[in-house]
Amino acid sequence: MSNMVIVGAQWGDEGKGKMVDLLCDRFDVVARYQGGHNAGHTVRIGDRQFVMHLIPTGILHPDKECVIGNGVVIDPEYLLNEISQLEALGISLRGRLFISTRAHLILAYHRAIEVATERALGDKKIGTTFRGIGPCYEDKAARSGVRVCDLFHPEVLRERIFENVKTKNALLTTLYQAEPLDAQAILDQVMALVEKLKPYATDTAAWLAGAMKAGKRILFEGAQAIMLDLDHGTYPFVTSSSAGAGGACTGTGVPPTRIDGVIGVAKAYATRVGGGPFPTEIKTPLGEQIRQRGGEYGASTGRPRRCGWFDVPAARYAGRINGIDALAITKIDVLDTLEEIPICSGYRYRNSDLKEMPCESSVLENVEPVYRVFPGWQSPTLGLTSREALPQKAQDYLLALSELTEMEIAMISTGPERNQTILLHEAKIFGLMV
Ligand code: IMP
Repeated sequence: MSNMVIVGAQWGDEGKGKMVDLLCDRFDVVARYQGGHNAGHTVRIGDRQFVMHLIPTGILHPDKECVIGNGVVIDPEYLLNEISQLEALGISLRGRLFISTRAHLILAYHRAIEVATERALGDKKIGTTFRGIGPCYEDKAARSGVRVCDLFHPEVLRERIFENVKTKNALLTTLYQAEPLDAQAILDQVMALVEKLKPYATDTAAWLAGAMKAGKRILFEGAQAIMLDLDHGTYPFVTSSSAGAGGACTGTGVPPTRIDGVIGVAKAYATRVGGGPFPTEIKTPLGEQIRQRGGEYGASTGRPRRCGWFDVPAARYAGRINGIDALAITKIDVLDTLEEIPICSGYRYRNSDLKEMPCESSVLENVEPVYRVFPGWQSPTLGLTSREALPQKAQDYLLALSELTEMEIAMISTGPERNQTILLHEAKIFGLMV
């Protein structure tokens, strides 16, 4: 038996979807624990590309069961669309997809509030995905949210929606000079979806406990990443959930004592989408070159991602907060053409070395990255499947990443396809995946 968490070790978009897809075979259940359809997990299988936003990528494997845990926020209309799209591809979900009755619902007023607040922030905006994620988590914390279980109690649902719309309308019309919303229209819209959602609604914490009792192995699929985690990320430029490995427990109801390992996924460089500090950002045309080579555009919003060099202080921080047992390094092939590849090995701030990740975004904005420059290998690595096949300089680069971050590298992704991967079977983490 083994249960593992896959977590983003940078600012998101590290290639977690591919890693989940790849490791799925060793597990029985894939469970998502936070975020919503702000995430975008891209998986390429042959000539087919799947971008999943809400449903775990494990659903692409017919023998796997998938859970959307209580920590996830669900836009019901979006979810049903994703279900229909998968069904249209011949993928059956009934009896394989379980949605927590404790998960909170994203409703039209969440999106309206997000649009209004981001607009009001002007230059200081977070650069959110406009999916209603933050406002939905706000309501959860304010104890005014609407949960999946409320769908099956029409009176409760009506009362909650009307109460919420009253408050949101006051905000929208007075503070933000926006149009008010129609509570009845929102209620009708949701009620029309209830019967379609019913077959999936489950007490997933109880279901997962049963699955574990039956000896099933669970892979927890994180969305976003530790640097976007509400508590541990670059606050306030974060998402509103616990994207770190700890979120796997609160977001599914599986206790910490049942987690056996954590895999951190990081690109061989770094990207960030949206606002906020990004110390290693490349502001020269080289940044654009990497964006083009890496196809660095947001899977959810299509926004260009900011590109930067591998950031060791951020990765070490990710290692510590998440308890990462092994790293999966992705997109090494994107660096194939470069003459030199800097790695940020530390930060300096006001003439001294920073020992820890600063908690103020204003400090992180102004740190001076200290770089160690490695020679590029300037030969193709796309699709290579063994470490020995990698050019020596690429092996040296990876060794430096491992030594500087003090984490073992267990997987190297050399392209978007499942089989374009190097698995280092001697890594300790594979011993845990039994
Ligand atoms: P929100 O999650 O839409 O509230 O956005 C908050 C911040 O997280 C913004 O900077 C987004 O660009 C970022 N973000 C949210 N989801 C993802 C993701 O899946 N990948 C990368 N960044 C994300």
